[in-house]
Order: sequence, then C-alpha cells, then structure tokens
Amino acid sequence: MHRFEKRAAHCAKTIIDQQDVHVISHIDADGLTSAAIICTALERAGKDYSVEFVKQLDNAIINRIADLNPSVTVFTDLGSGMLDTINSLGINAVISDHHIPSGDCANHLNPHIFNINGAYEISGSGTTFLLARAMGDNYDLADLAVVGAVGDLQHVKQGQLIGVNRQIVGLGKQKGIIHCQRDLMLFGKQTRPVYKMLQYSSDPYLPGLTGNEDACINFLKNSGMHSQGEKWARWIDLDQPNKQRIVSNLIRFCISAGIHTDKIQRLVGEVYTLLKEREGTEVRDASEYSTLLNATARYDQARTGLAVCQGDRETEYENAIHLLAQHRRNLVEGINLVSEMGVTKLDNLQYFDAGSGIRDTIVGIVAGMSMTSIGNRNLPMIAFADTQEGVKVSGRGNYDLVRRGLNLAAAMDESAKSVGGIGGGHDIAAGATIPGNARSEFIRMLDGIIGTQLQ
Ligand code: C5P
Ligand code: C5P
Ligand code: ZN
Repeated sequence: MHRFEKRAAHCAKTIIDQQDVHVISHIDADGLTSAAIICTALERAGKDYSVEFVKQLDNAIINRIADLNPSVTVFTDLGSGMLDTINSLGINAVISDHHIPSGDCANHLNPHIFNINGAYEISGSGTTFLLARAMGDNYDLADLAVVGAVGDLQHVKQGQLIGVNRQIVGLGKQKGIIHCQRDLMLFGKQTRPVYKMLQYSSDPYLPGLTGNEDACINFLKNSGMHSQGEKWARWIDLDQPNKQRIVSNLIRFCISAGIHTDKIQRLVGEVYTLLKEREGTEVRDASEYSTLLNATARYDQARTGLAVCQGDRETEYENAIHLLAQHRRNLVEGINLVSEMGVTKLDNLQYFDAGSGIRDTIVGIVAGMSMTSIGNRNLPMIAFADTQEGVKVSGRGNYDLVRRGLNLAAAMDESAKSVGGIGGGHDIAAGATIPGNARSEFIRMLDGIIGTQLQ
C-alpha cells in the first residue's frame, strides 16, 4: 500500500473509533464536495456528526472548536496551514487538506507530505475521498471528488486531470458513474442554447462575441448551424461533425482576434460527465456543477450546496440555480469593474483594489479571470477587497510563472505575517487577510518577494 493510503487508513481509524464527529470545511466547491463526501461516509458508518463552513481557518475558530471539544474534528480542504495551533490546543483532529502544509502529524492527510502536488494532482475532495474509501466502500462518491478537483481548476495545467485525480476518474469510469471526453471547455454545454453559451463566455472573453447575441448567431450560421424556428440546440444536442466545425471556426476566430495561444489551446480539454445525473442539468457536467456550488457557499449558503451534493434535486437545488444566476452576473460585473478601474503594475506583479465593489469571497475568481482578459499574463494578479475583518487579498498566477519560481502561497504567507495578517494557499493561487491600513506596505513587500522568486 502506498504511504498516502496508509495515512488515510490511520486517519479513518481515528474517526471510526469515535461516535461524535465535527466536520469543518471551506466555503467553495472543493470544500462543499469534501464535506459531502465525509458526511455521507459518516452517515453510512452510523456516526453522529455536525458540520460547519468557514471562509478560512483562524485562531478564533480553532479556539472555539477546542472549547466545543467534540470527540473528533475532521478538517477538510483546510487545516494544513494551522497544524501547530490545532495540535497545541489538544484538539483530536483529522486534517484532510491539499494546501501547502506548515508541518505534519499522524492524522494529517495531505499530498505534499508524500511528494504529490496538491495544486493539480489531488484536491481536498480527493484526499477526503481517500479517507472515505478507508472508512467503507464509498466508491460512488468519486464523482463528487472530481467536481471538487475541477472546481479548484486542477485540470487546467494539462487540460485534463492527472495524478491521483486521474486514478479517481479511472475508478469512476470503471464503476460507470463518470465519463470523460475531449470537448469544448466553455460553460453551459449542458444547459444553454449554443449561441447563449458563446454570448456568455467570459473565460475566455471572446472579443466581438462575448455579450453580443447577434454576432454569436451570425457566427453559428457561418459555421453551418441553424435554429429550428426559434429554437436553438444546446451543445450536448449537436453531433460530432457539427461540434468539430464550430470548434475549428472558434479557434480561427480566436487566432484572428489575437487571443493568446495558451488560451486558445485551453478552449478544448477533457470534460467530465456525471452519469448518475440527468442530462441537460447543471450537475451533469463537473465544471458547471462546481460553479453551481460556488454560487452557494461563497454567498453564505453552504447548506444549500451541501444538500445538492448529498442528492437534493428539489427545493435546495432550485435555490442553488437561483443563486447561480446572480453569481454569474456578479462575475461579469466584477470583470467590468476591473476593466473600468484598470490594474496597477509594479515590477513583479499587477494589482487592483476592488474596495467594496466585489465580494471578498469571489474576488479571487475575478482576479483569475481578469489576469488574461485585462491584465498582463506575465505578472501575477493580486486583488484587494474590503471585509469586516480587514482586507482580503487574492493572488493568481499561471504555470509559466510557477515554472519561473513563483510561489504565491509562500509570498502571501510571509508578507501577510509581516503586517500582522495570515495567508497561504498554493504556488499558483493564494490568499491572505491583512489589517485595513497595511495595503501599501503589504503590496510593496509582496512585490519584492515575488521578484526574488522569479529571479
Ligand atoms: O482553497 P482551495 O485550494 O480550494 O482553492 C484553490 C484555488 O486555486 C481555487 O480558487 C482555484 O480557482 C485556484 N486555482 C487557479 N488556477 C489554477 C489552479 C487553482 O486559479 N490553475
Ligand atoms: O480566497 P482565494 O480564492 O483567493 O484563495 C486562494 C487560495 O488561497 C485558496 O486555496 C485558499 O484556501 C487559500 N487561502 C489561504 N489562506 C488565506 C486565504 C486564502 O490558504 N488566508
Ligand atoms: Zn481545495
């Protein structure tokens, strides 16, 4: 058995030995799917459990859990950056996480300890799936693990899931619950008429098509696709030759629009279909599913997302669909705000300060999207957003920068600490919370550290 699986078995035993379990997880798609996986496994094992979701783990939250004193606490998609605090307070904990860790202990299930990269080989839902597998059969939760990985953009590096993620996909395929296929990466293949899918494409932004319905309809007509009366097919309704013709035209279009080659290559990639789900619904496609989940948890509605992950396809699902529409509007408004405001360039990074114009829980997504559509792709994008606790910072890079030495998690951690904040994450994407008056000192320091990394 691989050492990683041995560790999973050890963690599983710690949980199984207890009756009351507290689960704490992160408010994004990976955090929700992680929580759903462990909660379902606990239910099946006949355990009592409670569950909560947080934006990020801090001393106050860990202190609260220590006071609560459950017989065991499972931290999912978070915790690895706060191991020392968790252990020093004597919390009986299992930590199932994929963020760059600050240390290690026996009940710590984190890929980095085993030389597996937590940014693209396995996510929090993946580590938690391994944990669930060690607690019982639970193979049918593989699709949720894939949704979490795709939600964390782990498929972006190679245009497909690799590493342990790939093994999880393999298991899902073998059990007949996941199908994977190379296809167009645009959002809405399951649910939107094709012209709407183009019209609403924000990642990539398609100059001339995004936001322009007539142009999208013309583009499709020129690609040989027509409506039947008023009714336009969805992407999933098209046959292969039609799809191929549209993709070829789209690639030609992007080349002539001067879109960066990297982005064009990423128009096509591996797409994961959840075969247990009804065709034509958001939850049939792993990427759409993860956006649906982000639309809940990032807006204080994690219970809704958790219910969807645990099979609700009625009331909570309807709620989630409703939230999704607003989330999509917020992302578009966020991008527009950044493009109106512009970004400030320093030597080694670019940044914008959204103030209270973008919610702190989605400013990272907007930073990632605006890096390629508005900013300069040779510099990491840093974003500030006001919160009640201080200033939220989000940073996004790309794999070219990571190859040149960028480690945003380390840079954020160090700069945040030096101004009395906390930060962490992954080399390619990281975040921090800092005091409100520390912005300029923080960004100067971050610029310097990233400069050293990129040398
Ligand atoms: O907290 P967590 O690990 O779940 O979040 C990972 C974050 O990293 C996600 O917000 C994801 O969008 C971001 N990411 C990215 N680009 C990548 C890989 C991850 O922006 N290539
Ligand atoms: O919030 P945002 O999406 O920008 O976070 C990017 C990554 O940084 C996520 O993986 C998140 O969990 C991590 N992060 C962290 N500590 C913070 C803020 C964010 O580890 N204080
Ligand atoms: Zn994650």
